[in-house]
Amino acid sequence: MYAPIRLPTEETIAEAARILRDGGLVVFPTETVYGLGAHALDARAVARIFEVKNRPRFDPLIVHIADPAMLERLCETVPEAARRLIERFWPGPLTVVLPKRPVVPDIVTAGLPTVAVRWPSHPVAQALIRAAGIPVAAPSANPFGRLSPTRVEHLDPVLRAQVDLIIDGGPCEFGVESTIVYVTEETVTVLRLGAVPVEALEAVVGPVALPTGSRDRPMSPGQLPRHYAPHTPVYVLRPGEVPPLSGRRVGYLAFRHAPADPSFQAVEVLSPTGDLREAAARLFDCLHRLDEAGLDVIYAEPVPEVGLGRAIMDRLRRAASGGNGEVGR
Ligand code: TXA
Ligand code: MG
Repeated sequence: MYAPIRLPTEETIAEAARILRDGGLVVFPTETVYGLGAHALDARAVARIFEVKNRPRFDPLIVHIADPAMLERLCETVPEAARRLIERFWPGPLTVVLPKRPVVPDIVTAGLPTVAVRWPSHPVAQALIRAAGIPVAAPSANPFGRLSPTRVEHLDPVLRAQVDLIIDGGPCEFGVESTIVYVTEETVTVLRLGAVPVEALEAVVGPVALPTGSRDRPMSPGQLPRHYAPHTPVYVLRPGEVPPLSGRRVGYLAFRHAPADPSFQAVEVLSPTGDLREAAARLFDCLHRLDEAGLDVIYAEPVPEVGLGRAIMDRLRRAASGGNGEVGR
């Protein structure tokens, strides 16, 4: 039995809020990707998220709030640089990692002394969190390691069968996940590239440190090298590189222009005008469609690594990393 998919009417929001308060699971839209939400202060409800996603327990969740007062309930201290980032980017696609208070269950933070918090700008997400009156823990609503959903049509059927309600808010505006920063009194470190570009962060707080950590031990536990992966192997092309067409069913993910060669089985173009924001918003949707086209391999063109282009390349490289023999760099 699949969970019902409902449009975000007042009744739907009220029902979803009730489900969350009672320890159930609700899939809801945010401006980045769809989230799989549960009551963040209810450890049993949060445990269900891990089961449904098949997510390793070492990978902590983001807690979503709907007013800044909730932040003080969750976090011990908020450094000055964090306050400035929050002031500029909330509500919106920025997640801030800060020292947690004891009220946040260990399962949410995977035992870390910090908690990741975000105030989403999507009106449906805001209405839901407000109506529930509780902070909502929510990872992206995809099975662990797979592409994040940016439309309800992308939801995995197995996941759909295990949640209580799905709210359809149409396609997500940004299409890539939030940018995650770890902030101390001294430094701002980007843990995950995302919908707020590095340049925009630096305009507010000066130079930031970029994602580090070894491939096996990333600073953000969920940032594994292989992630955001379609089932079909992905290969990221070098600039100007032409993919081989060798009798296989080959798909092509173009940045601006479809390739002239007609022998590709499926082609998706991210943004004909070369707009990185549009490209990011369409990235997972294009990958989902290519993944459903029964291809042997997907070749992806690189995009310029500035602004949102960095988050796009990060997702493409992870989609390609450690795939079935084809590693894109
Ligand atoms: O845009 C988004 O952020 C979406 C929407 C639903 O809000 N959520 C999302 O959640 O992308 P998820 O679970 O797919 O990714 C959360 C990331 C993981 O990589 C996790 O390791 C990191 O946040 N994270 C969470 N808490 C952390 C902490 N205390 N320290 C470091 N990283 C943390
Ligand atoms: Mg995710």
